[in-house]
Amino acid sequence: MRRALFGAALIVLGGAGSAAAQSTVAFGPHDLSAGSAIRNTDASINGQTCVFCHTPHEGSPTVPLWNRSTATSTYQVYASSTMDAAAPTSAQIQSGVTGACMSCHDGSIAVDVLANLSGVAHAASVAFTRQATAKATYGASGTGTSNVLNGGAPFLGTDLRNDHPITIIYETARAATPTEFVTQAISGTKITVGTTEPLPLYGASTATATVECASCHNPHNNARGFFLRKSNAGSAMCLTCHIK
Ligand code: HEC
Ligand code: HEC
Ligand code: HEC
Ligand code: HEC
Repeated sequence: MRRALFGAALIVLGGAGSAAAQSTVAFGPHDLSAGSAIRNTDASINGQTCVFCHTPHEGSPTVPLWNRSTATSTYQVYASSTMDAAAPTSAQIQSGVTGACMSCHDGSIAVDVLANLSGVAHAASVAFTRQATAKATYGASGTGTSNVLNGGAPFLGTDLRNDHPITIIYETARAATPTEFVTQAISGTKITVGTTEPLPLYGASTATATVECASCHNPHNNARGFFLRKSNAGSAMCLTCHIK
């Protein structure tokens, strides 16, 4: 009897640890040391959850302390005759927060190609050489080879024509059709849209701040699934910006 109870407790704990719905990086889909189907196999950095995206030193300044090279792909982007915001160039996508997401999600750079392996001497020979050495097999929602996303829903590729526009200046759209967009709010250097669970725009001023992947997604918190910043029940996420 005691043994059976003990076993049940273990199963509950195991379930909590492996569930995808995590409010922390650890054990969620972005835990590339353990939680993800696509993951690192280098034991020297396993257990570190931040290292696959951030480094305390030698980081790229475009995204907070970014530990990866930025994406260099050429992207096809959303366009329509009713859009007011200008379509971004590939260079604009690459250099911003969306480029950080795309460094994994367009399938061009392996998840464990890192600038600085924490705790490992970061000689130039170590940086950006892991793609050839670290390999894993995986299945789940993503599929690929050599730790590169190349299939499944998490893989977006370089054709973003069928995705919500990104790296577009919010104010261009709002100024053209002010009755159709919620006005931005400014708090210090943060620019957001919406009052209840506001969504972030990225940029230094309301005139230039852009909608990026991370406006709708928080790469650290998967409590709602799909790393969504807020629930889209009742289209609440869409209506944070669009007045329709
Ligand atoms: C899969 C990639 C990824 C992982 C893993 C990750 N981050 Fe981030 N992080 C990002 C991106 C992209 C941004 C910039 C976008 C944004 O504003 O959230 C960011 C922004 C941040 C910021 C500044 C904005 C904010 O949300 O406060 C902090 C602090 C941060 N990360 C800390 C961490 C820590 C600590 C860990 C490990 C526990 C971690 N991150 C793991 C991708 C990641
Ligand atoms: C270091 C590589 C890496 C970076 C950077 C990264 N991701 Fe991911 N992401 C992945 C992998 C790998 C998966 C698939 C995990 C799996 O299938 O288990 C994933 C899964 C996801 C998912 C699906 C989660 C689910 O519930 O199934 C979303 C949404 C997502 N990422 C969004 C983003 C966004 C937005 C950014 C940038 C803010 C980002 N990711 C940055 C590697 C990355
Ligand atoms: C305007 C808000 C918004 C933006 C911008 C956005 N997403 Fe999403 N994303 C969502 C919502 C809502 C879902 C969940 C519904 C669904 O399954 O499509 C989602 C789902 C996903 C998924 C899960 C797989 C899928 O297709 O359902 C991935 C991966 C993803 N987004 C990555 C990204 C990346 C990378 C970017 C930037 C290139 C991005 N998203 C930009 C709102 C957004
Ligand atoms: C962070 C703010 C934001 C969020 C959240 C958001 N959008 Fe958008 N969306 C925009 C902006 C800005 C544009 C560019 C509009 C323009 O330039 O006319 C846009 C463009 C679009 C377009 C293309 C319009 C056209 O004229 O071709 C559609 C469709 C759309 N959004 C639907 C959605 C849906 C559905 C959701 C929820 C899943 C959503 N949006 C969430 C800001 C947002």
